[in-house]
Amino acid sequence: MVVAIDGPAGAGKSSVARAVAQALGFTYLDTGAMYRSVGLAAERDGVAPGVAAERARIELGERVLLDGEDVTEAIRTPEASEAASRAAADPAVRKALVAQQRRIVADGDWVAEGRDIGTVVAPDAAVKVFLTASPEERARRRAAQIGADVATVLAEQAIRDERDANREHDPLAAAADAVELDTTGLSLEQVVERVVALVAAARAA
Ligand code: DC
Repeated sequence: MVVAIDGPAGAGKSSVARAVAQALGFTYLDTGAMYRSVGLAAERDGVAPGVAAERARIELGERVLLDGEDVTEAIRTPEASEAASRAAADPAVRKALVAQQRRIVADGDWVAEGRDIGTVVAPDAAVKVFLTASPEERARRRAAQIGADVATVLAEQAIRDERDANREHDPLAAAADAVELDTTGLSLEQVVERVVALVAAARAA
């Protein structure tokens, strides 16, 4: 079974997806970490993101490994976020990573987090959730996570949101059959409870 968690940056996807996976005993797939790793590889090697996507060996788990090197922290810097957003707009990158992601979720039980899980990677996912939160709330959460200033994060987030929503290939959008969940003002526990209830309902159906 696949549980798809999509939505914009800072809506709480990572915390929610991890906690839901833990609660259900499913495996967590962070597809954003794959775009981030490709962005970082392209910057470091001075190659086009599409080339980096074909070459890069990405291993996901407790730590994120790029060609054997631990890049768990390196892929979370503001520069890496920017490189990831640019890499994610490249159709060659999306093609390579979506193919890998489809292979990964083909067997077993997954909570997969990203922007296009319910629409492209796993359109047959048993449960699709589109998480949102107000731009201010999202910037506040991200700033706290990375120890940055809220106004700066809000400005950078607006640029990335715009690019993610308006790119030609697989722009960020909720699947028609996704359940939209606004997390503004909700605790992590409340959101997780709702998603777990959706999974229980899907299993009972
Ligand atoms: O979720 P995140 O911030 O780690 O994602 C990093 C970048 O990759 C962000 O610009 C959105 C993009 N992305 C994407 O286009 N498709 C995905 N499935 C996951 C992330």
